[in-house]
Amino acid sequence: MSDTPVLEVSGLTVEYRRGRKRVPAVSDVSFSIREGETVGLVGESGSGKTTIGRAILGLVPVSAGSIVFDGHDVTGPAHHARRREEGQIRAVFQDPYSSLNPSLPVAASLAEECGTGGRSREATFARMVDLFEKVGLPSTVVSSYPGRLSGGQRQRVAIARALMSDPRLIICDEPVSALDVSVQAQVLNLLRQIQRVRSLSYCFVGHDLDVVRYMSDWIVVLYRGHVLEDGPARTVAQSPRHPYTRALVAASPHPVVSPEDIATRPPSSLNAAMVTTGCPFAPRCPVAIDVCWTERPPVCTAPDGGKVACHRYDPVKDTTPTAEPAAGGSPVEVPAPVAPRTR
Ligand SMILES: Nc1ncnc2c1ncn2[C@@H]1O[C@H](COP(=O)(O)OP(=O)(O)OP(=O)(O)O)[C@@H](O)[C@H]1O
Ligand code: SF4
Ligand SMILES: [Mg+2]
Repeated sequence: MSDTPVLEVSGLTVEYRRGRKRVPAVSDVSFSIREGETVGLVGESGSGKTTIGRAILGLVPVSAGSIVFDGHDVTGPAHHARRREEGQIRAVFQDPYSSLNPSLPVAASLAEECGTGGRSREATFARMVDLFEKVGLPSTVVSSYPGRLSGGQRQRVAIARALMSDPRLIICDEPVSALDVSVQAQVLNLLRQIQRVRSLSYCFVGHDLDVVRYMSDWIVVLYRGHVLEDGPARTVAQSPRHPYTRALVAASPHPVVSPEDIATRPPSSLNAAMVTTGCPFAPRCPVAIDVCWTERPPVCTAPDGGKVACHRYDPVKDTTPTAEPAAGGSPVEVPAPVAPRTR
């Protein structure tokens, strides 16, 4: 894995219009992805994961902050058109069916969407067959209609489609959430295998912490558009430092934190959106103190380079052990640890 960041997201803020108001969906989010690395974005529904992916793809306007891809500022839709045309940043979404034309055979649908890139029709077709083989699809799939494929096959088509332009970064937005558990592991392993061969970088979006941990080197934990914690995947998933991450871990199918220890309060009658000055998690935090309601927590850097935004976190007292694999916490195997670093 190279140290060169392929993508640097700094202070990203995205607001959506709701009537006359502009409502922030993502606030001051920063992270970077190195070549061959996977950074996972995790958080409950509405935490801004997809919005971050869409901002990277240039599909939503950016209110503040910057997105630098391969050393070029590509913030916002206008700048992004060029990079997207070059196919350097691609996406695999949860529902591949929605982006395949049901009335066309798969090959025609892909050629329509991806273009031929200056190749002859025959060369494009041969490339598709080759890519389909690499993602474990029989070559006959190129002439099949999308409705005849299984969910797993459609997702493999989506992966092949993303690879058509030899991208450097793929945004994987919940790519296995709609698949059967048995097929999920196959598709996750396929993504990892392709990454190894091509030194691809992934931004992997998910709400299942086990899946995100399996795929990621580094995890960014989001809550209502704010980063509450980030760090090496195994540390975040096994020795979470932030109360919200502990709640996420406790809620996972293989908790390493006791659910009783960290039961969060139900969402308070106080609208969390009203917490504009304090910690966004305060209305649900079981260990909140007075200052949490009035002051935004500082972002502290942990000994391993991770970040924690919590008034109660003290990096000096951080004795987080080197993470060990969690019993049964991964669908297939545990990813390799990443070296401590500064982000
Ligand atoms: N097009 C839009 N217009 C207005 N608000 C939007 C739009 N898309 C998303 N939002 C809001 O932005 C916030 C973040 O949404 P986003 O889809 O990024 O979250 P998410 O983490 O991907 O959620 P999920 O896990 O459900 O996919 C939510 O409050 C959502 O309601
Ligand atoms: S800052 Fe306060 S409310 Fe927020 S997570 Fe930490 S202890 Fe809880
Ligand atoms: Mg989403």
